[in-house]
Amino acid sequence: MKKKILTTIISSTLFVSYGLYSVNAMAQTDSVQASANSESLKSEQVQADWHNNSKMYDVLAKAIVARMTDEEKLKMLVGAGMDPDKDTVINLKASVNGVAGYIHGVYAPKRRLDVPALKLADGPAGIRIDPTREGDSQTYYATAFPSGALIASTWNPDLVHEVGEAVANEGKEYGVDFWLAPGMNIQRNPLNGRNFEYYSEDPLVSGMIASAMVQGVQSKGLATTIKHFVANNSETNRFFINAVVTPRALREIYLRGFEYAVKESHPWGIMSSYNQVNGTNSGERADLMTDILRNEWGFNGLAMSDWFAGYNPIDLLNAGVDVIQPGGENLVVPGLGDWGKYVVEGYKNGELTKATLDRNVRHIVAQALKTPSAKNYPISNNPDLKAHATLAKQVADEGIILLKNQNSALPLATSQSIASFGITQINTLKGGTGSGDVHPDHVTTIIDGLAKQFPVNESLASFYSDYFEANKVITTGGLGVSKIVSCTEPSVTDLGAQINGAAQNSDVAVITLGRVAGEAADRKAGRGDYLLSETELGLISSVSNAFHAQGKKVVVILNIAGVIDMSEWQDQVDGIVLAYMPGQESGDAIADIISGKANPSGKLAQTIPLSYADVPSSTTFPGVDENHDGALDHQYYNEDIYVGYRYYQTFNKEVAYPFGYGLSYTSFDISRTKVLMNGLNHRHPRKGVLLKTVVANTGDVAGKEVVQVYVAAPEVKLKKPNIELKAFAKTRELAPGRSQRMMLEISPQTLASFDPAKDQWIVEPGTYQVYVSQSSDIRSVTPVEFVVRKEIVVENTTPGALALEEGVTAASFVTVAE
Ligand code: BGC
Repeated sequence: MKKKILTTIISSTLFVSYGLYSVNAMAQTDSVQASANSESLKSEQVQADWHNNSKMYDVLAKAIVARMTDEEKLKMLVGAGMDPDKDTVINLKASVNGVAGYIHGVYAPKRRLDVPALKLADGPAGIRIDPTREGDSQTYYATAFPSGALIASTWNPDLVHEVGEAVANEGKEYGVDFWLAPGMNIQRNPLNGRNFEYYSEDPLVSGMIASAMVQGVQSKGLATTIKHFVANNSETNRFFINAVVTPRALREIYLRGFEYAVKESHPWGIMSSYNQVNGTNSGERADLMTDILRNEWGFNGLAMSDWFAGYNPIDLLNAGVDVIQPGGENLVVPGLGDWGKYVVEGYKNGELTKATLDRNVRHIVAQALKTPSAKNYPISNNPDLKAHATLAKQVADEGIILLKNQNSALPLATSQSIASFGITQINTLKGGTGSGDVHPDHVTTIIDGLAKQFPVNESLASFYSDYFEANKVITTGGLGVSKIVSCTEPSVTDLGAQINGAAQNSDVAVITLGRVAGEAADRKAGRGDYLLSETELGLISSVSNAFHAQGKKVVVILNIAGVIDMSEWQDQVDGIVLAYMPGQESGDAIADIISGKANPSGKLAQTIPLSYADVPSSTTFPGVDENHDGALDHQYYNEDIYVGYRYYQTFNKEVAYPFGYGLSYTSFDISRTKVLMNGLNHRHPRKGVLLKTVVANTGDVAGKEVVQVYVAAPEVKLKKPNIELKAFAKTRELAPGRSQRMMLEISPQTLASFDPAKDQWIVEPGTYQVYVSQSSDIRSVTPVEFVVRKEIVVENTTPGALALEEGVTAASFVTVAE
């Protein structure tokens, strides 16, 4: 059976488009700052609760599993299908339309068995369920929060925690049990179609933001599912691509954010990914799903597969995927049917043992018992959408990044009239497409947001609105891909006399550029995607010429899924606002930044390079077709550990905007940085390095700043990136002239590098330079130092885990090395 399934899949040409431990890198600040302190207190509380609770649920689950029949257990191992007849879902208490999947429960009162079926709803931008139901006048809208890339740009775990709490409220009030989020893969390459859902090119930012989200959601009793584990960094041929990555890069970059999240926040769920890692599907790797995830990191939740991921259900279950999703007819390989029958068969013929069956079901039941369904949470279908809309805007206000602001082009006085160009001002992109889409009750467009705060050029606004009505195209994507509204960008010729007219009559030009992206496809390096289209370039130059001729300013708003080229056009404009995909309150949040109602404090969680060719993975993304069957099959992670700023910094590459960068309407000064304590030279170092620094608002308006701690480590056995982010913290809102003392801690685990020769995390001896900076451009920062006297072995890991396939050597594909 094993072989049969495998070969059917492989030969199928069809593919569906469709402080850790206490990381302590999370900043702790002294009494002057309550918010980050409360974050670390929350963290302690989470750890304590988790230890008490997880034991109790394990014991309960064990007792329940002992009373279940094999048939009941086998049923639980495979989901109930994406859109099943509700009666076939075992022990479904109340149904919710539009969830992505279910896990069967069990009901046998005589044996005191009543584990409810679990309802799994997507994210990560909010709770994804159907907003309306046939024959029902009630609505089921959910808040569309800003997408992941923007959320991470806040660099504010406390705020992210609040988002998590709000998401949990919506999930529970609508009857959901598991949230299929957050997505936390590394933004390895700017063209990954799902970068909008992910947080960062850096594992610390990714891990800390994900931890805050998980803690927020779970603190209110809804389950999270961190995904996609692991190395799911592209979408092209996503079911079959083989990510070829060295164990060190996996450990230091791709696994590390997940490791932080698991150890800090104890997610109840995790989702394996579609891709292979070094020759085997991630979910079918016992070294990943069991040795690393459970034995090394202590994950104690439920592991599920991504939807139709993997090649063999028995391999998935044996490796440590507890439940295969979604079950039902396999849509990737038509004709294969429901994997449930192969699981039963595998159990009968001994490929799946009783021990494994019991283990997996125990994992499922232990989590099921914590869910709203198990606790009979009374579904109100009435979440606090109003409060969450306010929160969604607050997050967007705090995550939008001001990239350029020549001669203080921004903020604009609300008396200034705006000529607003670009079709995306109407076709505003709240988020990406696919399973990450959410159905809110409204989306404020950019033109509507601007019009609420400024006089806008009416003639131009009606031109765009008429053009949109005449040219919009609505497509409904394939499986899992939501409705997409697209519209061409009107050209300078289409605009006719509008540009010159507006330059005469309006005070400022605002041009919005849009880029949608989503699941199942990657973006393209060419014109109209990474590069601007000729039409967009024409628009920027015509508008800039006309407005500059009148001594008026031009500001560009980027409502984009991911990074685009800036080099070709940015010199022509005065201001650039990177809004990513700001959720349902897009227009109002962008207008807040333009007017200065919100002082920007978002910082890039990914680098914007000078050109796509500068991206170290540009030569290997999204893969190669080695067997010449017309589909990409291998993706070689040629830049190894040098992902994002680690590459640009180490190899002295100029970039357009560095990681960590973002302007404000005020200015900040960081001073009096000091190493307060260095616990690394103790015999058994538990504590790391404690730093103190002072941030002062030296400008004229109130604002927040992100303090970023970059460390340059000595190289003894291991080459390392020139600098790596080891801690960060955001200040509270500082009034002009006010300052804040911040304490930041770097744990030994955060400091460590992975020694592949010994399968160990080590801190090497020598002098460490610490740069407390406002971005990864540390050139003007004077470092402080600390010394490590002897090598510290922070952790031993599973020998040989995730090794390269036989015959593949790092030297054969790693092109970026010192
Ligand atoms: C996506 C997951 C999602 C699942 C359920 C898959 O195609 O990769 O992120 O949670 O579908 O919708």
